[in-house]
Amino acid sequence: MTIKPRTRKEIVEAMKEAARIGGASLAANFGRLSALPILEKGPSDFVSAADIESERLIVAHLNAKLPEVAVLGEEGAASPDAGNGLRIIIDPLDGTNNFLHGIPQFSASLALMEGDEVTAGVTFNPLSGEMFWAVAGKGAYLGEKRLNGSSRKSLAHAVVGTCFPYNGKGDTEKAAREMAAIMPRVSGIRSPGSAALEIAYVAEGRFDGFWTSGAKLDLWDLAAGVIIAREAGCLATEIDGKGDPLRCRSLVVAPRQFHGQFIDIFGPTCATGAPNKTALA
Ligand code: IPD
Ligand code: CA
Repeated sequence: MTIKPRTRKEIVEAMKEAARIGGASLAANFGRLSALPILEKGPSDFVSAADIESERLIVAHLNAKLPEVAVLGEEGAASPDAGNGLRIIIDPLDGTNNFLHGIPQFSASLALMEGDEVTAGVTFNPLSGEMFWAVAGKGAYLGEKRLNGSSRKSLAHAVVGTCFPYNGKGDTEKAAREMAAIMPRVSGIRSPGSAALEIAYVAEGRFDGFWTSGAKLDLWDLAAGVIIAREAGCLATEIDGKGDPLRCRSLVVAPRQFHGQFIDIFGPTCATGAPNKTALA
């Protein structure tokens, strides 16, 4: 399915507005953290009043601006397809664990799906004001600046992002094998704690790559990042180098000069894992 570029542009503008609105509530709540009610969803899986308020505000804005577009949110928002295949996937607070520890690295992240394809994405860091965004075929941007990924030549100079498994989520041994394989080959590994932002950093060139398969992500963690990175000229695949990362089994995102090298490094370490709960069917 395709929609007119003008319409897609209108949709992405409404998504940016929604991310700013959700982000503003996150920033306000971050300033009064000790007063926030926190619920435990599962092992090391917390949701705070901030996640819920951000999602409520984002959904209200999207419903008002784009009533014909369905939504699916990490905190439970879900509306039926209007028959046009359009859906916005919402992570109202990516980096909840950081947020709850007072670590200033988190984002609100939204992705437009047209059928099974992600065609636009926005990831907003409300503390820095950085808005990463992309529209299929139109490029990736940080604010108004066009993004092209890292131009570093040598993997030995690369800084690579990842997500670690944690209590009850992900495959610790697999992640350890991947770490052991890549550590001697790059100049640094980082796990700042908001996957959506870290994938956008590959588009920007701060990171020379991002991978995870031991710690499986959900669709709302990675969908915006995948389109932002691809529109910056990077490759985003499963860890086998071919599969669709929206299936959420694994993810390797990197500029073209490094992607194949990452696939070769990780190849011997793992078989493809099972998809996470929000993966495409
Ligand atoms: C989490 C973040 C984190 C990743 C976790 C995700 P949440 O999302 O993206 O970087 O390591 O696997 O669950 O729970 O903060 O929205
Ligand atoms: Ca998330």
